[in-house]
Amino acid sequence: MKSTYQVLSPGDIRSAREHDEFASDLLFGLSQPVKQISSKYLYDDTGSHLFCRIMELPEYYPTRCETEILLRHGPAIVESVGDARLNLVEMGAGDGTKTRILINQLRGQHVDFRYVPIDISESAVSELCTELVQECPEVAVKGLVSDYFVGVDWLSHQNAARNLILFLGSNIGNFDPTRQVHFLTDLWNALNHGDYVLIGMDLKKDPEIINRAYNDRQGVTAAFNKNLLHRINRDLGGDFDPDQFVYYSAWDPFAGAVKSCLLSKASQSVYIDELCRSFDFALWEPIHTESSYKFSVADVHKKARHIGFEVVENFFDAKHYFVDSLWQVVKE
Ligand code: AVI
Repeated sequence: MKSTYQVLSPGDIRSAREHDEFASDLLFGLSQPVKQISSKYLYDDTGSHLFCRIMELPEYYPTRCETEILLRHGPAIVESVGDARLNLVEMGAGDGTKTRILINQLRGQHVDFRYVPIDISESAVSELCTELVQECPEVAVKGLVSDYFVGVDWLSHQNAARNLILFLGSNIGNFDPTRQVHFLTDLWNALNHGDYVLIGMDLKKDPEIINRAYNDRQGVTAAFNKNLLHRINRDLGGDFDPDQFVYYSAWDPFAGAVKSCLLSKASQSVYIDELCRSFDFALWEPIHTESSYKFSVADVHKKARHIGFEVVENFFDAKHYFVDSLWQVVKE
């Protein structure tokens, strides 16, 4: 008998792992007393495309506010960081739009820097690097395909350049408070004394403004959430009928977060082939899909200090809806 073998590529192994992780997270989440699906699964290709549309919605103020901050305060941010050699590190490659504003500021102020996007997705890093090299051939770009902290830690041991980590868009707000502390502690650990973090945080404000941002009139945010059900059907052989669920999202002043969910419009049972299991939904039972925590300026300071960062300066938009807070790592 002819024997053959196959060496799996790192990409094959990674996608098999991601698939298994999705299946086991889903099994865990849908077996909880309050059903939940982690918001990280919102971002498949369709979800990422829908999120780009959300960022352009008139109701979704955070992106516009943060862009305003970077345009207005870019020179001051660059000045605060000083003129040492710099790694401009972006966690999560994103589409790089906001980063380009800072890149242009750094170039304008003749800072010696290189741009280092870090993402687990090779295609995201490779696309961003290619685009940037074409757009600004004189900027040094070094993309890293890696877990965030492994990448930052590796970078911290490479050369004497100072790191400026960008964690924009209030992405920190999608972690629950315990995870926020873990994430920021891991980041602090991976960095050197004197490195910087520019972290974007959406601020607490009139609930009407917040609620509008998550309940847009065109229904893009609803489609973004419902796409989770389409993804489960496609990737794990689910038989969800997305029309049997309705998106619901509201500011919870006690939690300090927008809580988003999909509500079951009927008493129904859904089978997921890869999990070999069905899940029962009671009438109006929720599946929690996302929390978006908002912060006060005092929260920002408390969080930074608690972990070992010093707040260098807070940069606000004109309405004080959003803050980009510049933190410096302090290690004794
Ligand atoms: C990515 N993240 C900070 C967004 C947020 O505001 O929580 C995701 C989002 N969900 C609905 N609209 C936007």
